[in-house]
Amino acid sequence: MTETSSDIDRAAGWLRAGGLVALPTETVYGLGANAEDPAAIARIFQVKGRPPSHPLIVHIADADQLDDWVEEVPVTARLLAEHFWPGPLTLVLRRGRRVPLEATGGLETVAVRVPDHHLALALLSAFGGGVTAPSANRFGSVSPTTADHVRTELGDAVDFVLDGGPCQVGVESTIVDVTGEFPSILRPGGVTREDLEAVLGIPIGVPSTSHVRVPGQHPSHYAPRARVVLVEPEKVVAEAKTAQELGHRVGVLLPASLTGTAMTAHAVVTLPGSMDSYAHGLYGFLRELDQQGCDLIVASLPAEEGLGLAIANRLHRAAGPRSSA
Ligand code: TXA
Ligand code: MG
Repeated sequence: MTETSSDIDRAAGWLRAGGLVALPTETVYGLGANAEDPAAIARIFQVKGRPPSHPLIVHIADADQLDDWVEEVPVTARLLAEHFWPGPLTLVLRRGRRVPLEATGGLETVAVRVPDHHLALALLSAFGGGVTAPSANRFGSVSPTTADHVRTELGDAVDFVLDGGPCQVGVESTIVDVTGEFPSILRPGGVTREDLEAVLGIPIGVPSTSHVRVPGQHPSHYAPRARVVLVEPEKVVAEAKTAQELGHRVGVLLPASLTGTAMTAHAVVTLPGSMDSYAHGLYGFLRELDQQGCDLIVASLPAEEGLGLAIANRLHRAAGPRSSA
């Protein structure tokens, strides 16, 4: 307990001093900086290798603080915040004056969320301000879901790592744009479309999973080192065998329905049956297959409902074209 509270104090101190703090959230680990400090924000982009036009999410401690960061809060946004915060939902709203353009990649809108993790909330309260935090990985690669993932990938580039154990949800927040007449999902994530629709009582548009809607995003994202190939579930076994025989070191994400099937492959991860557990483990599975030296990962898409929509989106993006090595 005492150790944790002194960790919170140290982390808040680093934020005040313009440092970078990796913080646990319920979705993935974030690479946090004071949202009002352009120099610290510049360091985030530098450490991640992320283009500065790619906007960040401002994390706040409480839905009551939302008005401090945005120009206005439409009724829809208020309703969603009340229902889902703290939680894996990010709202895109008109930027308030407090938010520097460095945080929004020059946009007049800002993405805001209240994370559902006791250490993140303790840090936000102790710090008192907003914390801009992208996922704590290098641009384009797999998001970290443990403190060790962050340490391995970013090492000394981070001033302080707040270790909150494995992230519960495992995929990033759902991003909902509430600046227009109708809300729309810019990125599916931890809050399902079905849950959003139940609260709002209207259908909500979702981009096709292979289509890039969020500004500044790169076609390949959330990607392990190994190339990712998506096939129909019934073709996973045959595809893996062919690729392995062609000399690839094949990793397989084997659908739960095929548990126990004989495989020709270098490494196999049998997926859990529930979508909650699949999302929770997804990025760890991809990292594990990289670590085992796979150069090709064969996977199939889950049904695009509930959390399956976010998982399918990340697999599509991981399988997207790579611009260079
Ligand atoms: O779960 C999460 O959202 C995690 C944790 C750390 O909170 N954060 C996260 O941040 O995934 P990041 O930077 O990896 O992804 C944020 C996404 C980006 O795709 C960015 O383009 C989008 O949010 N975004 C940020 N501000 C935006 C804005 N004003 N309009 C549209 N999209 C925005
Ligand atoms: Mg990210």
